[in-house]
Amino acid sequence: SSNPLRFDGQTVVVTGAGGGLGKAYALFFASRGANVVVNDLGGSFKGEGKSSKAADVVVEEIKAAGGKAVANYDSVEDGDKIIDTAIKAFGRIDVLINNAGILRDISFKNMKDDDWDLIMKVHVRGAYKCARAAWPHFRKQKYGRVINTASAAGLFGSFGQTNYSAAKLAQVGFTETLAKEGLKYNILANVIAPIAASRMTQTVMPPDVLENLKPDWVVPLVAVLVHPSNTEETGSIFECGGGHIAKLRWERAKGALLRADDSYTPGALLSKWDNVNDFSKPSYPTGVANFMELLEEAQKLPANPPAKNPDFKGK
Ligand code: NAI
Repeated sequence: SSNPLRFDGQTVVVTGAGGGLGKAYALFFASRGANVVVNDLGGSFKGEGKSSKAADVVVEEIKAAGGKAVANYDSVEDGDKIIDTAIKAFGRIDVLINNAGILRDISFKNMKDDDWDLIMKVHVRGAYKCARAAWPHFRKQKYGRVINTASAAGLFGSFGQTNYSAAKLAQVGFTETLAKEGLKYNILANVIAPIAASRMTQTVMPPDVLENLKPDWVVPLVAVLVHPSNTEETGSIFECGGGHIAKLRWERAKGALLRADDSYTPGALLSKWDNVNDFSKPSYPTGVANFMELLEEAQKLPANPPAKNPDFKGK
């Protein structure tokens, strides 16, 4: 278009911006006029060590191209320091992209507390600390845009990634509630499940596949979601990678309704198990089922049917 999306005068904080997806976001927003805080702890993909180099290289690249950026080397676990960097350097924060992440893949049988705890600290506590520190600024200026980063591993499960899966689905619940609490202050929050070639994926995907999964191809979705022209899209989950972008949502089956009395036994439930699984006429809820109304309806039913032999085939 002759009128590309721009971010002049806005400050964008990107965590884990020393490489991969974060670097692609940082370069893009700087090229579109934003002040960018390039945060990166600079450790290994397993969360070991640290170095200022990762963030510095990206800041230099942005400056060489005529953009505005500052580096921050703190862990996202110290999110307040990262947001401080934005306020000190640019006087404001408009966009927070919670992107930093690590992996500690190991089968559940062999998982150690450290593998679990470190993943939770970086992904869950890290996203929390950064958003918590940005929140008062967003509220005060009645403007804020947040992107949290989930993963297919969180949405669908992934062998050897119980820790990472748990931390990544946590981003969904976190985002959905931030969206609700932020709405009245024009703070919009969305969550993405990206796929892209990075040091994180280079060990698990073949080179010819990675060739077609550039981090740059996740950027447009993030740009659209955090741009001021987005005034409505919030609390949503997007899958994104390789040029494919799709929203995901919850689907509720028809459901079984049982009268809540002595005849409500496991056997009675089994007799209506087909309804529990009936997705022929689904609904797409954004909230809990109206269980008070449903309970009332259930009480109008005759006594529950007797037990049926369990048959879970094809369910
Ligand atoms: P990456 O390893 O290239 O980038 C992550 C960056 O975060 C690194 O530069 C790392 O130094 C930084 N980082 C790690 N711990 C940090 C901490 N405590 N504080 C500050 N910075 C820290 O990996 P990639 O692929 O770019 O990942 C970005 C995000 O996307 C992560 O949250 C990851 O879980 C998520 N993701 C990536 C997928 C992919 O296909 N690449 C798939 C699904 C999710």
